Amino acid sequence: MKKVITVIGARPQFVKSGPLSKALRKHFQEIIVHSGQHYDANLSENILRDIGSPKPDYFLKTIGSTHGAQTASILRATEEVFIKESPDAVIVFGDTNTTLAASIAAVKLGIKLVHVEAGLRSFNKAMPEEINRIATDRISDFLFAPTPIAMKHLTDEGLKDKSYLTGDIMVDSVKSVSGQITKDILNAWQLEENKYYLLTMHRPYNVDNKENLLRILADLATLPYPIVFPIHPRTKKVLAGTDISPNIKLIEPQGYVNFTGLLKYSHKMITDSGGVQKEAYIQKKPCITLRTETEWVGTIDAGWNLLLPPENGDLSEAITAFNPSGSHPDLFGVDVADKMVQILLDSL
Ligand code: UD1
Repeated sequence: MKKVITVIGARPQFVKSGPLSKALRKHFQEIIVHSGQHYDANLSENILRDIGSPKPDYFLKTIGSTHGAQTASILRATEEVFIKESPDAVIVFGDTNTTLAASIAAVKLGIKLVHVEAGLRSFNKAMPEEINRIATDRISDFLFAPTPIAMKHLTDEGLKDKSYLTGDIMVDSVKSVSGQITKDILNAWQLEENKYYLLTMHRPYNVDNKENLLRILADLATLPYPIVFPIHPRTKKVLAGTDISPNIKLIEPQGYVNFTGLLKYSHKMITDSGGVQKEAYIQKKPCITLRTETEWVGTIDAGWNLLLPPENGDLSEAITAFNPSGSHPDLFGVDVADKMVQILLDSL
Protein backbone atom coordinates (compact mmCIF):
# COMPACT_ATOMS: atom_id res chain seq x y z
CA MET A 1 0.00 0.00 0.00
CA LYS A 2 1.43 3.41 -0.95
CA LYS A 3 1.96 5.96 1.77
CA VAL A 4 0.74 9.56 1.60
CA ILE A 5 1.24 12.37 4.07
CA THR A 6 -1.55 14.92 4.40
CA VAL A 7 -0.43 18.24 5.85
CA ILE A 8 -2.95 20.46 7.62
CA GLY A 9 -2.44 23.39 9.96
CA ALA A 10 -5.09 26.08 9.68
CA ARG A 11 -8.85 26.01 10.00
CA PRO A 12 -9.76 25.97 6.29
CA GLN A 13 -7.54 22.91 5.85
CA PHE A 14 -9.16 20.95 8.67
CA VAL A 15 -12.53 21.41 6.99
CA LYS A 16 -11.20 20.03 3.69
CA SER A 17 -9.14 17.16 5.09
CA GLY A 18 -11.97 15.13 6.68
CA PRO A 19 -13.66 13.85 3.51
CA LEU A 20 -10.35 13.31 1.73
CA SER A 21 -8.90 11.25 4.59
CA LYS A 22 -11.98 9.06 4.57
CA ALA A 23 -11.65 8.38 0.83
CA LEU A 24 -7.85 8.03 0.94
CA ARG A 25 -7.82 5.45 3.69
CA LYS A 26 -9.67 2.92 1.52
CA HIS A 27 -6.59 2.66 -0.73
CA PHE A 28 -3.57 4.33 0.89
CA GLN A 29 -1.74 4.45 4.17
CA GLU A 30 -2.32 8.02 5.32
CA ILE A 31 -0.20 9.90 7.85
CA ILE A 32 -1.60 13.23 9.03
CA VAL A 33 0.74 16.05 10.00
CA HIS A 34 -0.70 19.07 11.84
CA SER A 35 1.70 22.00 11.49
CA GLY A 36 0.45 23.73 14.64
CA GLN A 37 -0.27 27.01 12.79
CA HIS A 38 -3.73 27.09 14.38
CA TYR A 39 -3.52 25.70 17.88
CA ASP A 40 -6.67 26.99 19.68
CA ALA A 41 -9.24 24.23 20.27
CA ASN A 42 -11.89 26.43 18.65
CA LEU A 43 -9.98 26.70 15.41
CA SER A 44 -8.43 23.26 15.41
CA GLU A 45 -9.66 20.33 17.53
CA ASN A 46 -13.35 21.22 17.35
CA ILE A 47 -13.32 21.47 13.58
CA LEU A 48 -11.35 18.22 13.18
CA ARG A 49 -13.79 16.45 15.50
CA ASP A 50 -16.88 17.71 13.62
CA ILE A 51 -15.52 16.83 10.21
CA GLY A 52 -14.62 13.32 11.38
CA SER A 53 -10.92 13.70 10.70
CA PRO A 54 -8.61 11.08 12.21
CA LYS A 55 -6.28 12.31 14.95
CA PRO A 56 -3.06 13.76 13.51
CA ASP A 57 -0.06 11.44 13.73
CA TYR A 58 2.26 14.41 14.22
CA PHE A 59 1.41 17.70 15.92
CA LEU A 60 4.27 20.10 15.21
CA LYS A 61 5.07 23.24 17.10
CA THR A 62 5.05 26.29 14.89
CA ILE A 63 6.86 29.35 16.09
CA GLY A 64 7.31 32.77 14.56
CA SER A 65 5.35 35.97 14.54
CA THR A 66 6.15 37.01 10.96
CA HIS A 67 5.20 35.20 7.76
CA GLY A 68 8.83 34.35 7.04
CA ALA A 69 9.49 32.96 10.49
CA GLN A 70 6.22 30.99 10.57
CA THR A 71 6.84 29.51 7.11
CA ALA A 72 10.44 28.66 7.95
CA SER A 73 9.46 26.98 11.18
CA ILE A 74 6.87 24.78 9.42
CA LEU A 75 9.28 24.02 6.55
CA ARG A 76 11.94 22.78 8.93
CA ALA A 77 9.55 20.68 11.02
CA THR A 78 7.69 19.09 8.10
CA GLU A 79 10.97 18.26 6.35
CA GLU A 80 12.04 16.23 9.38
CA VAL A 81 8.81 14.22 9.28
CA PHE A 82 9.03 13.68 5.51
CA ILE A 83 12.59 12.36 5.83
CA LYS A 84 11.54 9.99 8.59
CA GLU A 85 8.37 8.71 6.90
CA SER A 86 9.56 8.76 3.27
CA PRO A 87 6.05 8.97 1.75
CA ASP A 88 5.14 8.41 -1.91
CA ALA A 89 3.30 11.73 -1.97
CA VAL A 90 2.51 14.77 0.16
CA ILE A 91 -0.92 16.38 -0.05
CA VAL A 92 -1.42 20.07 0.78
CA PHE A 93 -4.57 22.19 0.78
CA GLY A 94 -5.33 25.77 -0.15
CA ASP A 95 -3.10 28.75 0.38
CA THR A 96 -1.85 29.19 3.93
CA ASN A 97 1.70 29.44 5.17
CA THR A 98 1.41 25.75 6.10
CA THR A 99 0.65 24.92 2.44
CA LEU A 100 3.68 26.74 1.11
CA ALA A 101 6.10 25.50 3.77
CA ALA A 102 5.17 21.82 3.43
CA SER A 103 5.25 22.12 -0.36
CA ILE A 104 8.81 23.40 -0.42
CA ALA A 105 9.91 20.74 2.05
CA ALA A 106 8.35 17.96 -0.06
CA VAL A 107 9.62 18.94 -3.50
CA LYS A 108 13.16 19.53 -2.26
CA LEU A 109 13.16 15.92 -1.06
CA GLY A 110 11.90 14.70 -4.45
CA ILE A 111 8.51 13.68 -3.02
CA LYS A 112 5.48 14.02 -5.31
CA LEU A 113 3.37 17.00 -4.31
CA VAL A 114 -0.42 17.15 -4.62
CA HIS A 115 -2.18 20.51 -4.32
CA VAL A 116 -5.87 20.44 -3.47
CA GLU A 117 -7.68 23.68 -4.43
CA ALA A 118 -5.18 24.63 -7.12
CA GLY A 119 -5.50 27.43 -9.67
CA LEU A 120 -7.23 30.02 -7.51
CA ARG A 121 -6.18 33.57 -8.13
CA SER A 122 -7.24 36.86 -6.58
CA PHE A 123 -4.63 38.74 -8.66
CA ASN A 124 -3.79 40.68 -5.51
CA LYS A 125 -0.22 40.02 -4.43
CA ALA A 126 -0.73 42.06 -1.28
CA MET A 127 -2.57 38.97 0.07
CA PRO A 128 -0.09 36.49 1.56
CA GLU A 129 -2.40 33.73 0.33
CA GLU A 130 -1.92 34.76 -3.31
CA ILE A 131 1.85 34.27 -3.07
CA ASN A 132 1.34 30.93 -1.34
CA ARG A 133 -1.03 29.70 -4.08
CA ILE A 134 1.11 30.76 -7.02
CA ALA A 135 4.28 29.27 -5.56
CA THR A 136 2.59 25.99 -4.54
CA ASP A 137 0.95 25.51 -7.94
CA ARG A 138 4.22 26.12 -9.72
CA ILE A 139 6.08 23.35 -7.88
CA SER A 140 3.30 20.73 -7.51
CA ASP A 141 3.07 17.47 -9.47
CA PHE A 142 -0.72 17.13 -9.24
CA LEU A 143 -2.99 20.17 -9.35
CA PHE A 144 -6.59 19.51 -8.34
CA ALA A 145 -8.65 22.43 -9.61
CA PRO A 146 -12.06 23.03 -8.05
CA THR A 147 -13.65 24.91 -10.96
CA PRO A 148 -13.24 25.49 -14.71
CA ILE A 149 -12.05 29.03 -13.92
CA ALA A 150 -9.24 27.63 -11.73
CA MET A 151 -8.40 25.21 -14.58
CA LYS A 152 -8.17 28.16 -16.95
CA HIS A 153 -5.72 29.98 -14.68
CA LEU A 154 -3.51 26.89 -14.55
CA THR A 155 -3.68 26.51 -18.34
CA ASP A 156 -2.80 30.18 -18.83
CA GLU A 157 0.24 29.67 -16.60
CA GLY A 158 1.44 26.66 -18.61
CA LEU A 159 0.47 24.10 -15.96
CA LYS A 160 -2.27 22.25 -17.85
CA ASP A 161 -0.45 18.92 -18.11
CA LYS A 162 -0.43 18.49 -14.32
CA SER A 163 -3.99 19.80 -13.78
CA TYR A 164 -7.22 17.93 -13.14
CA LEU A 165 -10.71 19.39 -12.84
CA THR A 166 -11.95 17.53 -9.77
CA GLY A 167 -14.59 19.85 -8.30
CA ASP A 168 -14.37 21.37 -4.86
CA ILE A 169 -13.73 19.17 -1.83
CA MET A 170 -15.87 21.48 0.33
CA VAL A 171 -18.97 20.07 -1.34
CA ASP A 172 -18.11 16.83 0.45
CA SER A 173 -17.34 18.73 3.68
CA VAL A 174 -20.73 20.45 3.82
CA LYS A 175 -22.50 17.20 2.90
CA SER A 176 -20.69 15.27 5.60
CA VAL A 177 -22.18 17.38 8.43
CA SER A 178 -25.57 18.30 6.95
CA GLY A 179 -27.33 15.39 8.69
CA GLN A 180 -26.21 16.66 12.11
CA ILE A 181 -27.68 20.17 11.84
CA THR A 182 -30.75 21.02 13.89
CA LYS A 183 -32.55 24.23 14.80
CA ASP A 184 -31.29 23.88 18.38
CA ILE A 185 -28.44 26.09 17.29
CA LEU A 186 -30.90 29.01 17.09
CA ASN A 187 -31.99 28.64 20.72
CA ALA A 188 -28.41 28.75 21.92
CA TRP A 189 -28.21 32.44 20.93
CA GLN A 190 -31.94 33.34 20.92
CA LEU A 191 -32.01 33.70 17.15
CA GLU A 192 -34.93 33.53 14.76
CA GLU A 193 -34.64 31.61 11.52
CA ASN A 194 -33.84 33.89 8.58
CA LYS A 195 -33.69 36.94 10.90
CA TYR A 196 -30.00 37.34 11.58
CA TYR A 197 -26.82 37.83 9.59
CA LEU A 198 -23.77 35.63 10.06
CA LEU A 199 -20.47 37.53 9.93
CA THR A 200 -16.85 36.39 9.74
CA MET A 201 -13.94 38.78 9.33
CA HIS A 202 -10.24 38.12 9.83
CA ARG A 203 -8.35 39.39 6.76
CA PRO A 204 -5.45 41.61 7.85
CA TYR A 205 -6.57 44.50 5.59
CA ASN A 206 -10.02 44.57 7.24
CA VAL A 207 -9.10 43.91 10.85
CA ASP A 208 -5.52 44.85 11.65
CA ASN A 209 -6.27 48.58 11.72
CA LYS A 210 -8.60 49.10 14.69
CA GLU A 211 -10.16 52.33 13.45
CA ASN A 212 -10.98 50.70 10.13
CA LEU A 213 -12.46 47.62 11.82
CA LEU A 214 -14.63 49.73 14.15
CA ARG A 215 -15.91 51.76 11.20
CA ILE A 216 -16.95 48.56 9.36
CA LEU A 217 -18.67 47.19 12.48
CA ALA A 218 -20.48 50.47 13.18
CA ASP A 219 -21.87 50.43 9.64
CA LEU A 220 -22.95 46.76 9.85
CA ALA A 221 -24.60 47.41 13.22
CA THR A 222 -27.27 49.51 11.46
CA LEU A 223 -28.59 46.44 9.59
CA PRO A 224 -32.21 45.53 10.41
CA TYR A 225 -31.42 42.17 12.06
CA PRO A 226 -28.84 41.15 14.65
CA ILE A 227 -25.42 40.00 13.52
CA VAL A 228 -23.80 36.85 14.86
CA PHE A 229 -20.04 37.18 14.71
CA PRO A 230 -17.86 34.16 15.58
CA ILE A 231 -14.68 36.04 16.16
CA HIS A 232 -11.27 34.87 14.91
CA PRO A 233 -8.35 35.30 17.37
CA ARG A 234 -6.69 37.79 15.03
CA THR A 235 -9.78 40.06 15.12
CA LYS A 236 -10.34 39.46 18.82
CA LYS A 237 -6.88 40.75 19.68
CA VAL A 238 -7.60 44.02 17.86
CA LEU A 239 -10.99 44.48 19.53
CA ALA A 240 -9.85 43.57 23.05
CA GLY A 241 -11.43 45.85 25.65
CA THR A 242 -13.51 47.83 23.11
CA ASP A 243 -17.30 48.12 23.36
CA ILE A 244 -19.22 47.43 20.20
CA SER A 245 -22.93 47.71 19.32
CA PRO A 246 -25.28 45.25 21.07
CA ASN A 247 -26.67 44.46 17.60
CA ILE A 248 -23.46 42.47 17.04
CA LYS A 249 -23.26 39.26 19.10
CA LEU A 250 -19.64 38.25 19.49
CA ILE A 251 -19.30 34.50 19.94
CA GLU A 252 -16.35 32.11 20.00
CA PRO A 253 -15.25 30.53 16.69
CA GLN A 254 -17.64 27.62 16.15
CA GLY A 255 -17.15 23.95 15.32
CA TYR A 256 -18.08 22.92 11.80
CA VAL A 257 -21.53 21.54 12.57
CA ASN A 258 -22.57 24.69 14.45
CA PHE A 259 -21.11 27.02 11.86
CA THR A 260 -22.78 25.20 8.98
CA GLY A 261 -26.04 25.31 10.96
CA LEU A 262 -25.72 29.03 11.69
CA LEU A 263 -25.17 29.65 7.99
CA LYS A 264 -28.09 27.45 6.98
CA TYR A 265 -30.64 29.37 9.06
CA SER A 266 -29.21 32.86 8.51
CA HIS A 267 -30.73 35.61 6.37
CA LYS A 268 -27.44 36.46 4.65
CA MET A 269 -23.74 35.70 5.04
CA ILE A 270 -21.24 38.56 5.37
CA THR A 271 -17.59 37.56 5.17
CA ASP A 272 -14.05 38.24 4.03
CA SER A 273 -13.11 34.54 4.06
CA GLY A 274 -12.57 32.54 0.87
CA GLY A 275 -14.08 29.22 1.87
CA VAL A 276 -17.17 30.73 3.46
CA GLN A 277 -18.19 32.25 0.10
CA LYS A 278 -18.38 28.72 -1.29
CA GLU A 279 -20.19 27.33 1.73
CA ALA A 280 -22.80 30.07 1.35
CA TYR A 281 -23.23 29.24 -2.33
CA ILE A 282 -23.48 25.50 -1.67
CA GLN A 283 -26.20 26.24 0.92
CA LYS A 284 -27.94 28.73 -1.42
CA LYS A 285 -27.47 31.72 0.87
CA PRO A 286 -26.86 35.27 -0.36
CA CYS A 287 -23.25 36.17 0.44
CA ILE A 288 -21.73 39.62 0.78
CA THR A 289 -17.94 39.58 0.51
CA LEU A 290 -16.14 42.47 2.19
CA ARG A 291 -13.21 42.59 -0.20
CA THR A 292 -12.14 44.27 -3.42
CA GLU A 293 -11.64 40.98 -5.26
CA THR A 294 -12.39 37.29 -4.86
CA GLU A 295 -10.99 33.99 -6.06
CA TRP A 296 -14.52 32.63 -6.30
CA VAL A 297 -15.71 34.69 -9.26
CA GLY A 298 -18.17 31.96 -10.31
CA THR A 299 -20.34 32.75 -7.29
CA ILE A 300 -20.39 36.44 -8.31
CA ASP A 301 -21.23 35.61 -11.94
CA ALA A 302 -24.05 33.34 -10.74
CA GLY A 303 -25.49 36.33 -8.87
CA TRP A 304 -25.30 34.91 -5.33
CA ASN A 305 -22.22 36.75 -4.08
CA LEU A 306 -21.79 40.52 -3.89
CA LEU A 307 -18.30 42.05 -3.73
CA LEU A 308 -18.48 44.98 -1.38
CA PRO A 309 -15.16 46.72 -0.68
CA PRO A 310 -15.49 48.03 2.90
CA GLU A 311 -13.69 51.28 2.10
CA ASN A 312 -16.65 52.31 -0.08
CA GLY A 313 -18.84 52.80 3.02
CA ASP A 314 -22.68 52.46 3.02
CA LEU A 315 -22.33 48.74 3.63
CA SER A 316 -25.68 48.11 5.27
CA GLU A 317 -27.61 49.79 2.48
CA ALA A 318 -25.93 47.63 -0.17
CA ILE A 319 -26.36 44.48 1.93
CA THR A 320 -30.07 45.14 2.41
CA ALA A 321 -30.56 45.75 -1.31
CA PHE A 322 -28.80 42.51 -2.33
CA ASN A 323 -31.50 39.84 -2.77
CA PRO A 324 -30.49 37.12 -5.21
CA SER A 325 -32.97 34.50 -6.30
CA GLY A 326 -33.55 32.29 -9.32
CA SER A 327 -30.99 30.19 -11.09
CA HIS A 328 -28.29 28.52 -9.02
CA PRO A 329 -26.02 26.48 -11.31
CA ASP A 330 -23.83 23.69 -9.94
CA LEU A 331 -20.38 25.27 -9.67
CA PHE A 332 -18.46 22.86 -7.49
CA GLY A 333 -19.22 19.26 -8.54
CA VAL A 334 -20.02 16.13 -6.49
CA ASP A 335 -18.14 13.22 -4.86
CA VAL A 336 -14.93 15.17 -5.17
CA ALA A 337 -12.79 13.24 -2.68
CA ASP A 338 -13.42 9.97 -4.54
CA LYS A 339 -12.36 11.58 -7.82
CA MET A 340 -9.13 12.85 -6.29
CA VAL A 341 -8.28 9.46 -4.83
CA GLN A 342 -8.95 7.73 -8.14
CA ILE A 343 -6.49 10.06 -9.91
CA LEU A 344 -3.84 9.30 -7.30
CA LEU A 345 -4.52 5.54 -7.55
CA ASP A 346 -4.08 5.67 -11.32
CA SER A 347 -0.95 7.82 -11.29
CA LEU A 348 1.16 7.37 -8.17
C1 UD1 B 1 -4.58 32.01 8.42
C2 UD1 B 1 -4.34 31.94 6.92
C3 UD1 B 1 -5.58 32.41 6.17
C4 UD1 B 1 -6.82 31.68 6.63
C5 UD1 B 1 -6.95 31.82 8.15
C6 UD1 B 1 -8.17 31.06 8.65
C7 UD1 B 1 -2.00 32.34 6.20
C8 UD1 B 1 -1.11 33.29 5.50
N1 UD1 B 1 -3.23 32.80 6.50
O1 UD1 B 1 -4.71 33.39 8.76
O2 UD1 B 1 -5.39 32.16 4.79
O3 UD1 B 1 -7.95 32.25 6.02
O4 UD1 B 1 -5.76 31.29 8.73
O5 UD1 B 1 -8.35 31.19 10.00
O6 UD1 B 1 -1.61 31.22 6.47
N2 UD1 B 1 -3.86 32.73 16.62
C9 UD1 B 1 -4.36 32.33 17.85
N3 UD1 B 1 -4.81 31.05 17.96
C10 UD1 B 1 -4.77 30.17 16.93
C11 UD1 B 1 -4.28 30.60 15.70
C12 UD1 B 1 -3.82 31.89 15.55
O7 UD1 B 1 -4.42 33.09 18.80
O8 UD1 B 1 -5.18 29.01 17.09
C13 UD1 B 1 -3.35 34.09 16.47
C14 UD1 B 1 -1.89 34.06 16.04
O9 UD1 B 1 -1.05 33.99 17.13
C15 UD1 B 1 -1.78 35.33 15.25
C16 UD1 B 1 -3.14 35.52 14.65
O10 UD1 B 1 -4.05 34.74 15.42
O11 UD1 B 1 -1.52 36.43 16.07
C17 UD1 B 1 -3.17 35.14 13.21
O12 UD1 B 1 -2.85 33.77 13.01
P1 UD1 B 1 -2.13 33.25 11.65
O13 UD1 B 1 -2.12 31.78 11.62
O14 UD1 B 1 -0.84 33.96 11.49
O15 UD1 B 1 -3.00 33.80 10.47
P2 UD1 B 1 -4.57 33.88 10.28
O16 UD1 B 1 -4.95 35.31 10.30
O17 UD1 B 1 -5.28 32.92 11.18
